[in-house]
Amino acid sequence: MEATQTREIRMGHNRTGMKASPLDGMALERKSSDTPPPAPGSLRATEMRKEYTREADTLGSVPPPVSIKGVGEAALQALQGHRLASLIDKLGERLAFERSGVRLYEALLVKCEALGTWQGGPTRELLEEQCNDELQHFHLMKQTLEHLGADPTAMTPSADVAGVEASGLLKVITDPCTTLSQALHSLLIIEDADSDGWDMLVEIATSTGQKELADQCRTALATEETHKQRVREWLGSAALADARGESEQQRVSMH
Ligand SMILES: [Fe+2]
Ligand SMILES: [Fe+2]
Repeated sequence: MEATQTREIRMGHNRTGMKASPLDGMALERKSSDTPPPAPGSLRATEMRKEYTREADTLGSVPPPVSIKGVGEAALQALQGHRLASLIDKLGERLAFERSGVRLYEALLVKCEALGTWQGGPTRELLEEQCNDELQHFHLMKQTLEHLGADPTAMTPSADVAGVEASGLLKVITDPCTTLSQALHSLLIIEDADSDGWDMLVEIATSTGQKELADQCRTALATEETHKQRVREWLGSAALADARGESEQQRVSMH
């Protein structure tokens, strides 16, 4: 393996702190202490926000199953109205999350190939394995939704929320300026939420009598726990190498 490009945290012309310009800093502090307490106008803003929150519509809806008389008919008998909508909403959320997961791993593979990894860091094989796991989970959710007669291409309310939540993490991972360990830090948050999502789905499937689905979700949860543990270990080895000042020497290419 050959040494490749490194990207260390280094000292530079960062002028964002007040100490970069002490006189301006003091003037800013003076201005801040001279500023009067919040005017009544800000209270009005709070009241307005409350009003908007009370009056706002929900974040989209769950489309009703299109083919109730299918293989999922028996499973649906005990699931009507709100419970069915909740289950489809959460299945849609996991489907969207797993689809994003595949894209995140693809972006990580690109970053890894461009910047290299380190001893104890992620390998191409493991990243590809985890990417495939996310893809399998996506297909599991697609099949489950189809089994229930639901449309797997529909964006459910929870899928929408999860997408917005993950958007900042996606930006960190795909930003060409971030290091692999910075990207992995975002991935750890993703994997943590991923495990929690499957855990919740196990509970929902169990409480709605979907035993087969609960078992499938439990298997997926075990896989996600492995992902989370590995990402934690990769980050741990990067932090240790950094602390020893060895990251540059230990960085190796994936080729
Ligand atoms: Fe996942
Ligand atoms: Fe995962």
